[in-house]
Amino acid sequence: MPLRLLIDCDPGIDDALALAYAFAHPQVSVEGIVATGGNVSTEQVGRNIRGLLHLLGVPHTRWELGAMNPLAQALTTTEETHGPLGTGYASLPGQQEPTGKEHGRGAELWVEAATRYPGELHGLVLGPSTNLALAIELDPTLTSKLASLHIMGGALNHRGNTMPTTEWNVHSDPEALSRVLAAFDNTGAACLPVLCPLDHTENSLMTPGRRAALTAGGGALLDALDLALQFYMEFHESDGLGFIAHVHDPFVTALAVNSALDSDLVLAQSLPVALDVELTGSLTRGQTIADWLGRWGREPNARALVSADAETFFEHFIATVRARYAVAT
Ligand code: RIB
Ligand code: CA
Repeated sequence: MPLRLLIDCDPGIDDALALAYAFAHPQVSVEGIVATGGNVSTEQVGRNIRGLLHLLGVPHTRWELGAMNPLAQALTTTEETHGPLGTGYASLPGQQEPTGKEHGRGAELWVEAATRYPGELHGLVLGPSTNLALAIELDPTLTSKLASLHIMGGALNHRGNTMPTTEWNVHSDPEALSRVLAAFDNTGAACLPVLCPLDHTENSLMTPGRRAALTAGGGALLDALDLALQFYMEFHESDGLGFIAHVHDPFVTALAVNSALDSDLVLAQSLPVALDVELTGSLTRGQTIADWLGRWGREPNARALVSADAETFFEHFIATVRARYAVAT
């Protein structure tokens, strides 16, 4: 039986790497992709998803545009990080042609896929949680239908990458993650959401050597990823982090897939914890907080990563993507 994934993302350069991995993995069936505004606008995310699906050779994959804006604030985007169109120096097929799709169908796709595959669908959120929150509003039983849920986001005992205490996906829509976590309060849900914060996803470090190993031999997809990574690494360098790139999303995707397959590849460990999001702090709005010592007296509503094995991840990630998309060794 294939491993069925619903990917909610905001490509975005590391999201593009995550999609390449998901479609390269021989056991994964991507049942749908939700375009969430974040790195770039929702419409541009949709255009990027469409262009990437063509490069990935899977143009008929179901995808939908999510909401135009976050739940309670205007959309902010980050072209300085991911490039004017969201894919760095890479151009994708049809990347500037309107999608012609209706906004706001992302939540429906979540509900449709989870209802079609109850207990089988694995949810993955690689951008703001806007459309997952809307999907739970549309179908409050959604959380009990998912086989697993991995969310890239937050910073627990680690500096933020957006403001001093906030990580981009949660910073973009704090209410959304707060509502998603609240949906798992006191449910004793079989599958608690696994929050994958910067504390550990920043170990997923794309270096020049790993980039060369991933893209050697070229070909349309790998060339596009190489151009995208050039921009992303220049951005990290300009942020004083060196000529590297934090590729959060493919790590979380590989973690979700290998956890679901119960494979020998143990990419990270997580622990149950009560999690919440600061919504009113003048300096800290969007901060994610884990109550490790149980001071709130609340049952765990999530699991949070406590370790990550980046070395094992990159070996697996590069081999998986190249096995499907390398044109030359
Ligand atoms: O903070 C990192 C996250 O924000 C990643 O998902 C990246 O793609 C951006 O969306
Ligand atoms: Ca992302």
